[in-house]
Amino acid sequence: MKEFENAKWICCPAEGADAGEGVLTGRLASGEVVATVCNPPDRNGLVPLFRRSFRLTEKPKEAILSVTAAGLYRLFVNGVNVNYSLFDPGWTDYPKRLQYQSYRIKGLLKDNNTLELLAAGGWACAGLLGAGTHFFSDRIAVLAGLTLRYADGREERIGSDESWEVFRSRIRFSHIYQGEDIDLGAEPEYLGHAVETELDAKLIPQEKEPVTAREILPLRREFVTSEGDRVLDFGQNLAGRVCLTVKGRKGARIIVRHAETLDEKGNFYVKNLRTAAQRMEYVLGKDGVSELKPVFTVQGFRYAAVDAEEGIGILKAEAVAVYTGMKRTGVISCGNEKIERLCDAVLWNLRSNFLEVPTDCPQRDERLGWLGDAEVFAPSAAFLYDVKNFYRCWLRDVASGQREDGGIPAIAPYNRAGYPFRVSAAWADAITVVPHVLHENYGDRSVLEEFYPSMLRYVDYLKNAGPVEELWLGGNHYGDWLALDGLDPRNPKTSKDMIASAYYYHSLELTVCAGKILGKDTAELEALLARVRKAFRERFLGMRDSYAALSLLLCFGLLEENEKAEAARELADMVERNGNRLLAGVVGAPIVLQALSENGYANKAYDLLLEEGVPSWLGMLRYGATTLWERLDTFDENGMKDIRNASLNHYMFGSVLQWLVEGAGGLKAEAPGWSSFVWKPLPEKRLGSLRIRKDCPSGRIEAGWSVTDGGVRYALTVPDGAKARILLPGKEAFFRGPGSYEF
Ligand code: BGC
Repeated sequence: MKEFENAKWICCPAEGADAGEGVLTGRLASGEVVATVCNPPDRNGLVPLFRRSFRLTEKPKEAILSVTAAGLYRLFVNGVNVNYSLFDPGWTDYPKRLQYQSYRIKGLLKDNNTLELLAAGGWACAGLLGAGTHFFSDRIAVLAGLTLRYADGREERIGSDESWEVFRSRIRFSHIYQGEDIDLGAEPEYLGHAVETELDAKLIPQEKEPVTAREILPLRREFVTSEGDRVLDFGQNLAGRVCLTVKGRKGARIIVRHAETLDEKGNFYVKNLRTAAQRMEYVLGKDGVSELKPVFTVQGFRYAAVDAEEGIGILKAEAVAVYTGMKRTGVISCGNEKIERLCDAVLWNLRSNFLEVPTDCPQRDERLGWLGDAEVFAPSAAFLYDVKNFYRCWLRDVASGQREDGGIPAIAPYNRAGYPFRVSAAWADAITVVPHVLHENYGDRSVLEEFYPSMLRYVDYLKNAGPVEELWLGGNHYGDWLALDGLDPRNPKTSKDMIASAYYYHSLELTVCAGKILGKDTAELEALLARVRKAFRERFLGMRDSYAALSLLLCFGLLEENEKAEAARELADMVERNGNRLLAGVVGAPIVLQALSENGYANKAYDLLLEEGVPSWLGMLRYGATTLWERLDTFDENGMKDIRNASLNHYMFGSVLQWLVEGAGGLKAEAPGWSSFVWKPLPEKRLGSLRIRKDCPSGRIEAGWSVTDGGVRYALTVPDGAKARILLPGKEAFFRGPGSYEF
């Protein structure tokens, strides 16, 4: 690769890396936190600084520096931090797709120059849960290539090699889950010359927006718990960092721990973080005022417990949300304060989990790109933010993790050595579902073109996955994960064979649809589709014992028109019998409201939406959620459950936002990219009003309704270049072009 001609992967000299307890200061040496799988006591903790100085005798016409790392890096040219993304080179399927970044640095160059790369282990070198000891590399390594072009056409290259010097930086320890130790007073400690190393990774240019610091949340309150912790409350669960301005003497120590919640007694609660310590330790580097913030790590938290040595005063504390720099595209507001809070919680779910890859959660020792979660949330995400680059980049990781036999592992980026290859229905199907979500929202059919081959390979896998070609029987599925309708939420009621076969049909249908859009011959696939539907109906039509089962029948096109009314009635009755509780998980919850509202039971959908008893959407808010939880019943009238799946920041139940936009709000694209859309609102008195603003490729759509005693008022703005098909309750359909309307 031209950018890296002359450049070699380099890492720390062995003596430095193996300096044992010198390298892993603080945490492991002090014995305070010894996390198991996530934090093997090896050289991952080291945060080296690679340095190279060089002289210029002539000013170049152009100077481009390209950099990447096995780990994370910050680039400094003559002391100036050049990359403003906080997590370069990003997180992708490293062996097959490792991003590099290029910087124009001419303006920073002088006669004497220094290039510095501060590098931490990040995701690449961490033992992420279940994903092996090291996700990608057992050593932090960097690769840098500077190309200097002169006026006379000469080119000069300076690459990373053994002439670079390595220092131990003032960041004494860094880990994605565990946090960091930063000794602000420490001078870089020389470790020796860099050592050339081998690294098997295919380099690619940057594909998505950089991760940056985004919203800043002020401190809401500060208190001391009965266990004696001094706790800062930022009022909102989020992922990011606590930034402190403190005053104290050089050498004083301050420790910040992070938690999502307090326990029932109001004490700092960290058990649901499992082995993630989420702990920052700072040693002040000077007398007086210092700014403290993490560098290569994020935490999921609402609360921070601060343990500061005597004499340290906190002058200011802020929580800063950190995530991928996507543009906001959708805003929803509602006359019902609880629903408004629900939307806000979902927004914060997204902000907390769209950091480089769509993660399940941002706080515990997991934070992985689980496909099922990312798939069911994709339509909601695409409403809130412009996620086309973000998801497309991640889809490439999904596709590159695809197995030889076409199966798709449940997480991406995937670590080949570690996590078991589980191909689960509703997770693997991200490969068919998400490209369609992107195509529908952004109108770019190249996304279908790109992933069509992976879809076909996946269909091949499905054909061979079970004992018969037309059904997906057996296998290792998560099912309607965390539905509270069975004895064990990790093994809920709905038949896994049924879910898997319904998803088989769904994915096959989406593949046919993609094929047609792309002008492919889909005859064989269509014939298979018909056989799958027939086989499904023969075997599973009678399975109607759960929200998920009935919702799949109703929403995945598995029923004939004349069979829908009965299934919808059964579902509505079931919801009624269960006191409008949400007895559905990853499979059922995203479609149950649609199953009701599209089949004559909008009122029941609203009952379910507005229910506040646990388990329900609003039940989470009633018990203090500021982001939706992984398990709907983590807190209830009996207090908090001590359970394994107790993340308070999972977005899968946030898929409800899709129904608020498409069902309650009535807005849905009819042509790719929203050049035409349908508006079929479902006004509801209990909500009062609903307003939606949606930026799409053709412009801004605004749609709203409000219910008053005098009746329902509707308002719609259709942007230039778009057309709306309007279906108001009790009226014939009609069309409107660009303009603003009231009805
Ligand atoms: C994750 C989920 C994920 C699941 C697989 C969990 O540990 O947090 O969100 O989809 O595993 O069932």
